[in-house]
Order: sequence, then structure tokens, then C-alpha cells
Amino acid sequence: MLTHYLDLIRRAHKEHWAIGAFNTSNLEITQAIIEAADELQSPVIVQTSEKAIDYAGLHEIASLVISLASHVRIPVILNLDHGRSFDIAEQCAAEGYTALMRAASLLSFAQNVAETKRVVQLARRYHIAAEGELGVAGDEEGGIEAKKLIIDPDEARKFVKETGVDILAPAVGNEHGYAPGMRIDIHALQRIQRAVPETPLVLYGSSAFSERDIAASIRAGVVKINVDTDLRHAFSESLRRNLSEHASLYDPRGILGPAKDAVKAKVKEKIVLFGSSGKGNA
Ligand code: G3H
Repeated sequence: MLTHYLDLIRRAHKEHWAIGAFNTSNLEITQAIIEAADELQSPVIVQTSEKAIDYAGLHEIASLVISLASHVRIPVILNLDHGRSFDIAEQCAAEGYTALMRAASLLSFAQNVAETKRVVQLARRYHIAAEGELGVAGDEEGGIEAKKLIIDPDEARKFVKETGVDILAPAVGNEHGYAPGMRIDIHALQRIQRAVPETPLVLYGSSAFSERDIAASIRAGVVKINVDTDLRHAFSESLRRNLSEHASLYDPRGILGPAKDAVKAKVKEKIVLFGSSGKGNA
């Protein structure tokens, strides 16, 4: 069932568990995410970056997620991940997305507030959720060099007050992708949560973090955890293995099917780690 996450994040915040936000760009990964969540009766966020939208087509990927979500009873959220303009957020809302993330932390604080506030007001018109970010994490896909910023709690308080975001993604030493030895600054996360106690937090760049850091971040107030690189690796490693073991294989279903199953297993692993199993049928 396609829905927004406004009530779910408040419940998760109170009960200390998190919803997985899994990036997709094709049929098999989308099926794997929703099937895994349904089998574990977990709410799930399916999200698309702008590059995934360019690759698959906005109407095409939105219709795919909305169609697959209509076959399950668990809450499925369709989120724009790291939207870098108001326009793409507006197009996604019109296509049926139920959550919008505006990534404007590369701009000045004042510009970030202004841009994010516009997307929050847009989300209000559609009765969907809005996410903003503070502090810049490295982003290979967006060609952004990591600045390893740890944001200031007072800035977080000011940002939440002025934008009205439903959920906040603070930079706490995180980076998208596999950056070796990366650790979450849990104390920074706790300071930020104390500054904005009513606002649940987002952890992006989660593929590089240890299970212990993930668990500590959830105790500190994180309720949405972005996962991309781990799914891409599960998909591509299965493809390589399958094709090297079965050189004569030429049927795409036989080539992509096991890759889908590998992604599904990885999504289930994350859902169990995040503690959202069984939370989708309440
Ligand atoms: O927004 C997307 C995520 O931050 C991806 O991070 O590739 O480290 O899982 P990841």
C-alpha cells in the first residue's frame, strides 16, 4: 500500500527502530525491496536519485513502484532521494511520490533554508513528507567531494524551525558509498537530537557503517536509514558469479533472477538490523 511516512517515523522515533530507505533504478531491485519487506511484514521506503530517474524515466519508475506497492498491505513509501532542485521535487510529487528529500546543503545556510522550505510547502500541498539535509557528505554519484562536516546543533534547531521539515539528515561524518574506516559521530548525533528532540533523524551513507554504529544511531534518534551501495554490490556480485559459472547462459531472466534474489536477501538483512520487521502490519 503506497503511503507517506509521517505517522510511521513518529512511532519509530518513540519505539527506537528505523525504516530502511533503499535506492532503486530498475525492475529487479524494486521487486526485491518490496518482496523482502512484505515477507518480513516491514514498512519500507523505496527511493530514487535523480540519476536513477534519468536512467529509468520518472513516469516509468514511479508507475513501477506504485504498481508493485498496490499488491501488498505493508506501508510502501516512494521517496525522491537527494533532489537537487525544486523542479524535480514538483515533478515527483505530481507523479505520486509520497516523500521528497531536498539536498541543498551545498548552498549557503540561508539558501538551503529557502530551497528546503519551498519543498516542505510543496509536500504540504500533497499531504506527503519532506526531508532536508544539513552538512555535506561526499557523493560519488553527484560528483561531490566529501567535506566531513559535523553540523552544529544550534544550526540544526534554526534549520528545523525555519523550514518545518518532517525529518532531518545531518552530516555526522557520513559519506555515500564505501569509505573505509568510516564511523558515525554518535555524540554529534545525540547533541543534534537534543537540539531538535521532536524531529526524527536520517542516516545516509549507511553501507559503510558497522552494525554497532547503526544500532547506536537508532538509539540516538535515527528512524530512516538510506541504503544503496550494498544493494548495488549484491546485484553486481551475483551477476558476475552467475555468468562466470554459467558461460552459456543468455536468458535475461536466468541472468537477472539470481541477482534479484541476492538483493532481496541483503534487504532482509538490513530490515532485521534496523528492527522494523513486523512493524508493517500494525
Ligand atoms: O542517499 C543514498 C544513500 O546515502 C546511500 O548511501 O551508498 O552508502 O548506502 P550508501
